[in-house]
Amino acid sequence: MLISGKQILQHAYENGYAVPAFNFANMENLQAIIEGAEEMNAPVIIQTTQGAIDYAGFEYLADIGIGAAQRSRVPVVLHLDHGQKYEYCLKAIQLGWTSIMIDSSLEKLAENVRKVNEVIKIARPLGIAVEAELGIIGGKEDDLKSEQDIYTEVKDAVDFYQATHCDALAIAVGTAHGIYKGTVKIDFNRIQEIREKLPIPLVLHGSSGVPLEMVSQAVRCGINKVNFDTELKLANLQALQTFMTKNPGVYDIRKMYRPCRQAMKEVVKAKIEACKATNKSWVVL
Ligand code: 13P
Repeated sequence: MLISGKQILQHAYENGYAVPAFNFANMENLQAIIEGAEEMNAPVIIQTTQGAIDYAGFEYLADIGIGAAQRSRVPVVLHLDHGQKYEYCLKAIQLGWTSIMIDSSLEKLAENVRKVNEVIKIARPLGIAVEAELGIIGGKEDDLKSEQDIYTEVKDAVDFYQATHCDALAIAVGTAHGIYKGTVKIDFNRIQEIREKLPIPLVLHGSSGVPLEMVSQAVRCGINKVNFDTELKLANLQALQTFMTKNPGVYDIRKMYRPCRQAMKEVVKAKIEACKATNKSWVVL
C-alpha cells in the first residue's frame, strides 16, 4: 500500500527503528526493493533523485512507483530524494509522491529555511512529509571545507527546526554519498545529541559502504530513515558482469537482468535487517 511519509516516519520515531530508503530508476531496481521489503515484511521508502527523473521521466516513475506501492503487501512511501528546485517538488506532489526532500543545504541557513518553508506550505496541508538537510554530507557535496565545518551543529539543528518545523532532518555525521575512499567514521554522539534536542525523525544519507553494525548503531542512537543507493548499483553491475562473462553472446534482457534483480534484492534485505536494529516490531498499519 502507498502511504504518507509522515505516518511511517512518525511510527519509526516512536518505536526506535529506521525505515530503509532505496533509490530506483527503472523497473528491475524497483522490483528488487519491493520484493525484498515484502520478503522481510518491512515498510520501505522508494525514492527518486532528480537525476533518475531526468533519466526515466517524471510521469513514468510516478506510474511504476505508485503502481508498485499500491500493489505491495507492505507500507511503501514514494519519496523525492534531494529535490533542489521548488518546481520539481511541486510537480512530484502533483503526481502523487508522498514525501519530499527539499535540499538547500549548500545555501546559507536563512535561505535554506526559506526554501524549506516554501515547500512545507504546499506539502503540509496534503499530509506530505518534508525532509530537509543541514550540514554537508560528503561524497558528491564534499571537497569544500574541513570536517568540523561540514558536520551538522546541534545548535544549528535546533534553530533550523524552530524556524521550519520540518518533518524530518538529514544530518551530516560523517557518512558520504558514493563509494568510500577511507574508513567510515560516524559521530554517534552527535546523532544522540541532536536526537535529544529535536522531536522529529533524523535521516542518515550516504549509507552504502557503512558496515551493517554501524547502521544499526546509528539507528539505536536516533536515526529513523537510512538512505542506500550506490550498493544497489554495484550489486547490479557485478551480477551483470558475472552473467556476461559466463554467458557470452546472450542478448535477451530478461536473462541478463534476472540475476541483477536478485543481487539487488539480497542487498535490500540485508539493509532492512540492519535498520530494524531492535527487537521491536515494524509498523503495523
Ligand atoms: P549512497 O549512494 O552512499 O548509498 O547514498 C544514498 C543517499 O544518501 C541518497 O540520498
